[in-house]
Amino acid sequence: MTIFAVTGCAGFIGSNLIDRLLKNGHDVIGIDNFSTGQNRFLEEASLRCNFRLVNLDLLDLDGLKLSIKGCEFVFHLSANADVRFGTDHPRKDLEQNTIATYNVLEAMRSNGIKKIAFSSTGSVYGESPVIPTPEDGPFPIQTSLYGASKAACEGLISAYCEGFGFQSWIFRFVSILGERYTHGHIFDFYQKLKKDPSCLAVLGNGKQRKSYLYVQDCIDAIMLAVEKADEKVNIFNLGVDGYVEVNDSIGWICQELGVSPRLDYSGGDRGWIGDNPFIFLDTKKIQALGWRPKFDIEQGVIRTVQYLKNNEWVFDTRGGQ
Ligand SMILES: NC(=O)c1ccc[n+]([C@@H]2O[C@H](COP(=O)([O-])OP(=O)(O)OC[C@H]3O[C@@H](n4cnc5c(N)ncnc54)[C@H](O)[C@@H]3O)[C@@H](O)[C@H]2O)c1
Repeated sequence: MTIFAVTGCAGFIGSNLIDRLLKNGHDVIGIDNFSTGQNRFLEEASLRCNFRLVNLDLLDLDGLKLSIKGCEFVFHLSANADVRFGTDHPRKDLEQNTIATYNVLEAMRSNGIKKIAFSSTGSVYGESPVIPTPEDGPFPIQTSLYGASKAACEGLISAYCEGFGFQSWIFRFVSILGERYTHGHIFDFYQKLKKDPSCLAVLGNGKQRKSYLYVQDCIDAIMLAVEKADEKVNIFNLGVDGYVEVNDSIGWICQELGVSPRLDYSGGDRGWIGDNPFIFLDTKKIQALGWRPKFDIEQGVIRTVQYLKNNEWVFDTRGGQ
Protein backbone atom coordinates (compact mmCIF):
# COMPACT_ATOMS: atom_id res chain seq x y z
CA MET A 1 0.00 0.00 0.00
CA THR A 2 1.21 3.48 -0.84
CA ILE A 3 1.82 6.27 1.68
CA PHE A 4 0.01 9.37 0.40
CA ALA A 5 0.13 12.97 1.54
CA VAL A 6 -3.02 14.99 0.86
CA THR A 7 -2.93 18.78 1.16
CA GLY A 8 -6.29 20.44 1.79
CA CYS A 9 -7.41 17.23 3.51
CA ALA A 10 -10.09 18.99 5.59
CA GLY A 11 -11.73 20.62 2.58
CA PHE A 12 -14.73 19.54 0.52
CA ILE A 13 -12.92 17.43 -2.07
CA GLY A 14 -9.82 16.62 0.01
CA SER A 15 -11.80 15.06 2.86
CA ASN A 16 -13.79 12.90 0.43
CA LEU A 17 -10.52 11.85 -1.20
CA ILE A 18 -8.83 10.84 2.05
CA ASP A 19 -11.86 8.79 3.08
CA ARG A 20 -11.50 6.88 -0.19
CA LEU A 21 -7.72 6.40 0.17
CA LEU A 22 -8.10 5.23 3.78
CA LYS A 23 -10.91 2.87 2.84
CA ASN A 24 -8.65 1.40 0.17
CA GLY A 25 -6.11 0.62 2.90
CA HIS A 26 -3.51 3.29 2.17
CA ASP A 27 -1.62 5.31 4.78
CA VAL A 28 -2.48 8.99 4.56
CA ILE A 29 -0.77 12.07 5.94
CA GLY A 30 -3.37 14.85 5.77
CA ILE A 31 -2.21 18.46 5.80
CA ASP A 32 -4.48 21.45 6.33
CA ASN A 33 -4.45 24.87 8.01
CA PHE A 34 -8.24 24.86 8.45
CA SER A 35 -8.66 28.23 6.74
CA THR A 36 -11.76 26.83 5.01
CA GLY A 37 -11.43 23.18 6.04
CA GLN A 38 -13.64 21.61 8.70
CA ASN A 39 -12.64 19.36 11.57
CA ARG A 40 -15.99 17.61 11.26
CA PHE A 41 -15.09 16.41 7.75
CA LEU A 42 -12.24 14.41 9.34
CA GLU A 43 -14.35 12.62 11.95
CA GLU A 44 -14.32 9.31 10.06
CA ALA A 45 -10.66 9.61 9.07
CA SER A 46 -9.46 10.41 12.59
CA LEU A 47 -10.81 7.09 13.83
CA ARG A 48 -8.44 5.22 11.52
CA CYS A 49 -4.92 4.28 12.54
CA ASN A 50 -3.68 4.73 8.94
CA PHE A 51 -4.42 8.51 9.09
CA ARG A 52 -2.20 11.22 10.50
CA LEU A 53 -3.28 14.86 10.53
CA VAL A 54 -0.79 17.70 10.35
CA ASN A 55 -2.18 21.16 11.09
CA LEU A 56 0.11 23.26 8.94
CA ASP A 57 0.09 26.22 6.59
CA LEU A 58 1.69 25.29 3.27
CA LEU A 59 3.48 28.63 3.27
CA ASP A 60 5.68 27.13 6.05
CA LEU A 61 8.14 25.36 3.77
CA ASP A 62 10.32 23.91 6.55
CA GLY A 63 7.27 22.47 8.32
CA LEU A 64 6.04 21.05 5.03
CA LYS A 65 9.36 19.34 4.31
CA LEU A 66 9.15 17.59 7.68
CA SER A 67 5.45 16.74 7.33
CA ILE A 68 5.66 14.81 4.08
CA LYS A 69 8.81 12.88 4.94
CA GLY A 70 8.36 9.19 4.10
CA CYS A 71 5.39 9.62 1.78
CA GLU A 72 5.49 8.40 -1.83
CA PHE A 73 2.82 10.40 -3.60
CA VAL A 74 1.29 13.84 -2.97
CA PHE A 75 -2.29 14.81 -3.78
CA HIS A 76 -2.13 18.60 -3.72
CA LEU A 77 -5.66 19.96 -3.26
CA SER A 78 -5.19 22.84 -0.86
CA ALA A 79 -5.94 26.22 -2.40
CA ASN A 80 -7.96 29.34 -2.22
CA ALA A 81 -10.73 27.60 -4.14
CA ASP A 82 -13.04 30.59 -4.67
CA VAL A 83 -12.88 32.18 -8.11
CA ARG A 84 -15.27 34.97 -7.42
CA PHE A 85 -13.51 37.32 -5.04
CA GLY A 86 -10.06 37.30 -6.69
CA THR A 87 -10.00 41.00 -7.52
CA ASP A 88 -10.79 41.88 -3.87
CA HIS A 89 -7.42 40.44 -2.77
CA PRO A 90 -5.09 39.93 -5.75
CA ARG A 91 -2.26 38.51 -3.60
CA LYS A 92 -4.33 35.66 -2.19
CA ASP A 93 -4.46 33.45 -5.31
CA LEU A 94 -0.77 34.01 -5.96
CA GLU A 95 0.16 33.09 -2.38
CA GLN A 96 -2.32 30.33 -1.55
CA ASN A 97 -2.22 28.69 -4.96
CA THR A 98 1.01 29.42 -6.83
CA ILE A 99 3.50 29.92 -3.98
CA ALA A 100 1.93 27.13 -1.91
CA THR A 101 2.30 24.82 -4.93
CA TYR A 102 5.93 25.85 -5.34
CA ASN A 103 6.43 24.96 -1.66
CA VAL A 104 4.81 21.56 -2.17
CA LEU A 105 7.12 20.87 -5.12
CA GLU A 106 10.20 21.99 -3.20
CA ALA A 107 9.23 19.93 -0.14
CA MET A 108 8.79 16.93 -2.45
CA ARG A 109 12.13 17.56 -4.13
CA SER A 110 13.98 17.76 -0.84
CA ASN A 111 12.40 14.46 0.25
CA GLY A 112 12.95 12.66 -3.08
CA ILE A 113 9.17 12.34 -3.66
CA LYS A 114 8.39 12.52 -7.38
CA LYS A 115 4.69 11.87 -7.94
CA ILE A 116 2.05 14.59 -7.63
CA ALA A 117 -1.64 14.82 -8.48
CA PHE A 118 -2.96 18.36 -8.66
CA SER A 119 -6.47 19.82 -8.55
CA SER A 120 -6.50 22.41 -11.29
CA THR A 121 -9.62 23.89 -12.81
CA GLY A 122 -11.56 24.48 -16.01
CA SER A 123 -11.05 28.17 -15.21
CA VAL A 124 -7.53 27.90 -16.71
CA TYR A 125 -9.19 27.93 -20.15
CA GLY A 126 -10.51 31.47 -19.57
CA GLU A 127 -13.33 31.96 -22.07
CA SER A 128 -12.31 29.32 -24.57
CA PRO A 129 -13.46 29.76 -28.19
CA VAL A 130 -13.62 25.95 -28.44
CA ILE A 131 -16.61 24.28 -26.75
CA PRO A 132 -16.52 21.59 -25.46
CA THR A 133 -12.99 22.57 -24.53
CA PRO A 134 -10.34 19.85 -24.93
CA GLU A 135 -7.15 19.62 -22.86
CA ASP A 136 -5.11 20.83 -25.85
CA GLY A 137 -7.39 23.76 -26.76
CA PRO A 138 -5.92 27.14 -27.78
CA PHE A 139 -3.50 28.61 -25.25
CA PRO A 140 -5.88 30.49 -22.98
CA ILE A 141 -6.16 34.17 -22.15
CA GLN A 142 -6.81 34.24 -18.40
CA THR A 143 -9.95 35.93 -17.12
CA SER A 144 -9.57 35.38 -13.36
CA LEU A 145 -6.74 35.63 -10.86
CA TYR A 146 -7.72 32.17 -9.64
CA GLY A 147 -7.39 30.68 -13.15
CA ALA A 148 -4.12 32.55 -13.69
CA SER A 149 -2.69 31.24 -10.40
CA LYS A 150 -3.71 27.66 -11.24
CA ALA A 151 -2.23 27.96 -14.75
CA ALA A 152 1.01 29.06 -13.06
CA CYS A 153 0.82 26.00 -10.76
CA GLU A 154 0.40 23.74 -13.78
CA GLY A 155 3.42 25.41 -15.38
CA LEU A 156 5.55 24.86 -12.27
CA ILE A 157 4.47 21.25 -11.96
CA SER A 158 5.29 20.40 -15.56
CA ALA A 159 8.63 22.22 -15.27
CA TYR A 160 9.47 20.09 -12.19
CA CYS A 161 8.58 17.02 -14.24
CA GLU A 162 11.03 18.08 -16.93
CA GLY A 163 13.70 19.46 -14.62
CA PHE A 164 13.64 17.04 -11.70
CA GLY A 165 12.15 13.82 -13.08
CA PHE A 166 8.74 14.27 -11.40
CA GLN A 167 5.57 12.64 -12.76
CA SER A 168 2.27 14.49 -12.52
CA TRP A 169 -1.47 14.09 -12.93
CA ILE A 170 -3.19 17.43 -13.44
CA PHE A 171 -7.00 17.49 -13.21
CA ARG A 172 -8.99 20.39 -14.60
CA PHE A 173 -12.34 20.13 -12.84
CA VAL A 174 -15.62 21.80 -13.67
CA SER A 175 -17.49 22.83 -10.48
CA ILE A 176 -17.84 19.94 -8.07
CA LEU A 177 -21.04 19.05 -6.20
CA GLY A 178 -21.95 16.66 -3.40
CA GLU A 179 -21.47 15.85 0.26
CA ARG A 180 -19.33 18.36 2.23
CA TYR A 181 -19.92 21.09 -0.36
CA THR A 182 -19.22 24.41 1.36
CA HIS A 183 -18.86 27.00 -1.38
CA GLY A 184 -20.34 27.82 -4.76
CA HIS A 185 -23.68 28.81 -6.22
CA ILE A 186 -25.83 26.23 -4.38
CA PHE A 187 -24.33 27.28 -1.04
CA ASP A 188 -25.03 30.96 -1.84
CA PHE A 189 -28.58 30.39 -3.11
CA TYR A 190 -29.44 28.11 -0.17
CA GLN A 191 -28.15 30.68 2.31
CA LYS A 192 -30.10 33.50 0.66
CA LEU A 193 -33.30 31.42 0.50
CA LYS A 194 -32.98 30.53 4.17
CA LYS A 195 -32.97 34.23 5.00
CA ASP A 196 -35.76 35.13 2.58
CA PRO A 197 -37.60 32.37 0.68
CA SER A 198 -39.75 34.92 -1.16
CA CYS A 199 -37.04 36.37 -3.39
CA LEU A 200 -33.67 35.32 -4.76
CA ALA A 201 -31.00 37.69 -6.06
CA VAL A 202 -29.21 36.08 -9.02
CA LEU A 203 -25.89 37.35 -10.35
CA GLY A 204 -26.05 37.83 -14.13
CA ASN A 205 -29.06 36.89 -16.26
CA GLY A 206 -29.35 33.26 -15.09
CA LYS A 207 -28.55 32.01 -18.58
CA GLN A 208 -24.88 31.27 -17.87
CA ARG A 209 -24.20 27.72 -19.03
CA LYS A 210 -22.19 25.63 -16.59
CA SER A 211 -21.06 22.08 -16.18
CA TYR A 212 -20.85 20.26 -12.82
CA LEU A 213 -19.53 16.94 -11.55
CA TYR A 214 -20.49 14.90 -8.49
CA VAL A 215 -17.64 14.56 -6.00
CA GLN A 216 -17.50 10.74 -5.90
CA ASP A 217 -17.41 10.65 -9.71
CA CYS A 218 -14.54 13.14 -9.55
CA ILE A 219 -12.64 10.92 -7.12
CA ASP A 220 -13.31 7.81 -9.22
CA ALA A 221 -11.77 9.62 -12.20
CA ILE A 222 -8.74 10.79 -10.22
CA MET A 223 -8.03 7.31 -8.85
CA LEU A 224 -8.40 5.71 -12.28
CA ALA A 225 -6.17 8.23 -14.02
CA VAL A 226 -3.44 7.92 -11.38
CA GLU A 227 -3.55 4.16 -11.78
CA LYS A 228 -3.70 3.99 -15.58
CA ALA A 229 -2.13 7.11 -17.12
CA ASP A 230 1.64 6.93 -17.24
CA GLU A 231 2.96 9.91 -19.21
CA LYS A 232 5.40 12.30 -17.60
CA VAL A 233 2.64 14.96 -17.40
CA ASN A 234 -0.92 13.61 -17.52
CA ILE A 235 -3.60 16.27 -17.97
CA PHE A 236 -7.30 15.42 -17.75
CA ASN A 237 -10.48 17.46 -17.92
CA LEU A 238 -13.04 16.16 -15.43
CA GLY A 239 -16.71 16.90 -15.99
CA VAL A 240 -19.95 15.43 -17.28
CA ASP A 241 -20.99 15.26 -20.91
CA GLY A 242 -23.22 18.31 -20.82
CA TYR A 243 -24.15 21.54 -19.09
CA VAL A 244 -27.13 23.36 -17.63
CA GLU A 245 -28.21 26.97 -17.25
CA VAL A 246 -27.99 28.61 -13.83
CA ASN A 247 -31.78 28.93 -14.11
CA ASP A 248 -32.12 25.11 -14.34
CA SER A 249 -30.09 24.74 -11.20
CA ILE A 250 -32.22 27.36 -9.41
CA GLY A 251 -35.33 25.38 -10.40
CA TRP A 252 -33.98 22.15 -8.85
CA ILE A 253 -32.77 23.92 -5.69
CA CYS A 254 -36.14 25.65 -5.17
CA GLN A 255 -38.07 22.46 -5.82
CA GLU A 256 -35.95 20.57 -3.30
CA LEU A 257 -36.43 23.34 -0.73
CA GLY A 258 -40.15 23.70 -1.51
CA VAL A 259 -39.92 27.44 -2.24
CA SER A 260 -41.02 29.62 -5.18
CA PRO A 261 -39.10 32.88 -4.90
CA ARG A 262 -39.29 35.87 -7.22
CA LEU A 263 -35.99 35.95 -9.14
CA ASP A 264 -34.12 39.28 -9.18
CA TYR A 265 -31.39 39.18 -11.82
CA SER A 266 -28.49 41.61 -11.59
CA GLY A 267 -28.35 41.38 -15.42
CA GLY A 268 -25.61 40.88 -17.99
CA ASP A 269 -24.25 37.57 -19.19
CA ARG A 270 -21.67 37.30 -16.40
CA GLY A 271 -22.21 37.14 -12.64
CA TRP A 272 -18.89 38.72 -11.72
CA ILE A 273 -15.47 39.59 -13.18
CA GLY A 274 -13.99 36.32 -14.37
CA ASP A 275 -17.33 34.48 -14.47
CA ASN A 276 -17.22 32.38 -17.62
CA PRO A 277 -20.69 32.44 -19.24
CA PHE A 278 -20.16 29.02 -20.86
CA ILE A 279 -18.10 26.23 -19.31
CA PHE A 280 -18.25 22.82 -20.93
CA LEU A 281 -15.16 20.61 -20.97
CA ASP A 282 -14.40 17.85 -23.42
CA THR A 283 -13.89 14.71 -21.31
CA LYS A 284 -13.12 12.18 -24.06
CA LYS A 285 -9.60 11.68 -22.71
CA ILE A 286 -10.63 10.49 -19.24
CA GLN A 287 -13.51 8.52 -20.76
CA ALA A 288 -11.01 6.67 -22.96
CA LEU A 289 -9.62 5.16 -19.73
CA GLY A 290 -13.04 3.65 -19.06
CA TRP A 291 -14.44 6.28 -16.65
CA ARG A 292 -18.06 7.42 -16.82
CA PRO A 293 -19.82 9.64 -14.29
CA LYS A 294 -22.56 7.81 -12.38
CA PHE A 295 -24.53 10.96 -11.56
CA ASP A 296 -25.84 13.66 -13.87
CA ILE A 297 -25.93 17.37 -13.02
CA GLU A 298 -29.52 17.36 -11.73
CA GLN A 299 -28.73 14.45 -9.36
CA GLY A 300 -25.58 16.25 -8.21
CA VAL A 301 -27.52 19.45 -7.46
CA ILE A 302 -30.24 17.58 -5.56
CA ARG A 303 -27.72 15.58 -3.50
CA THR A 304 -25.92 18.81 -2.63
CA VAL A 305 -29.11 20.51 -1.44
CA GLN A 306 -29.98 17.42 0.59
CA TYR A 307 -26.52 17.46 2.16
CA LEU A 308 -26.89 21.15 3.08
CA LYS A 309 -30.38 20.53 4.52
CA ASN A 310 -28.93 17.85 6.81
CA ASN A 311 -25.82 19.86 7.69
CA GLU A 312 -26.87 23.45 8.16
CA TRP A 313 -23.96 23.87 10.60
CA VAL A 314 -21.73 24.52 7.56
CA PHE A 315 -23.41 27.91 7.17
CA ASP A 316 -22.25 28.87 10.67
CA THR A 317 -18.64 28.08 9.84
CA ARG A 318 -18.44 29.16 6.18
CA GLY A 319 -21.55 31.28 5.71
CA GLY A 320 -19.87 34.60 6.42
CA GLN A 321 -17.16 34.12 3.78
N1 LIG B 1 -14.95 22.73 -5.52
C1 LIG B 1 -14.88 22.95 -6.82
O1 LIG B 1 -15.91 23.12 -7.50
C2 LIG B 1 -13.54 22.98 -7.52
C3 LIG B 1 -13.51 23.14 -8.92
C4 LIG B 1 -12.28 23.18 -9.56
C5 LIG B 1 -11.11 23.03 -8.85
N2 LIG B 1 -11.17 22.86 -7.49
C6 LIG B 1 -9.91 22.73 -6.75
O2 LIG B 1 -10.01 21.58 -5.92
C7 LIG B 1 -9.29 21.80 -4.71
C8 LIG B 1 -10.17 21.53 -3.52
O3 LIG B 1 -11.26 22.44 -3.55
P1 LIG B 1 -12.40 22.40 -2.45
O4 LIG B 1 -13.65 22.76 -3.12
O5 LIG B 1 -12.30 21.14 -1.69
O6 LIG B 1 -11.98 23.63 -1.54
P2 LIG B 1 -11.97 23.78 0.05
O7 LIG B 1 -11.82 25.24 0.33
O8 LIG B 1 -13.12 23.06 0.65
O9 LIG B 1 -10.65 23.00 0.43
C9 LIG B 1 -9.37 23.60 0.40
C10 LIG B 1 -8.63 23.13 1.65
O10 LIG B 1 -7.30 23.66 1.64
C11 LIG B 1 -7.00 24.17 2.94
N3 LIG B 1 -5.99 25.22 2.77
C12 LIG B 1 -6.13 26.39 2.10
N4 LIG B 1 -4.98 27.10 2.15
C13 LIG B 1 -4.10 26.36 2.87
C14 LIG B 1 -2.75 26.55 3.27
N5 LIG B 1 -2.09 27.68 2.96
N6 LIG B 1 -2.15 25.59 3.99
C15 LIG B 1 -2.82 24.44 4.32
N7 LIG B 1 -4.11 24.20 3.97
C16 LIG B 1 -4.73 25.16 3.26
C17 LIG B 1 -8.32 24.69 3.46
O11 LIG B 1 -8.37 24.83 4.87
C18 LIG B 1 -9.29 23.64 2.95
O12 LIG B 1 -9.44 22.58 3.85
C19 LIG B 1 -8.75 23.22 -4.79
O13 LIG B 1 -7.44 23.17 -5.27
C20 LIG B 1 -9.65 23.88 -5.80
O14 LIG B 1 -9.02 24.97 -6.43
C21 LIG B 1 -12.35 22.84 -6.81
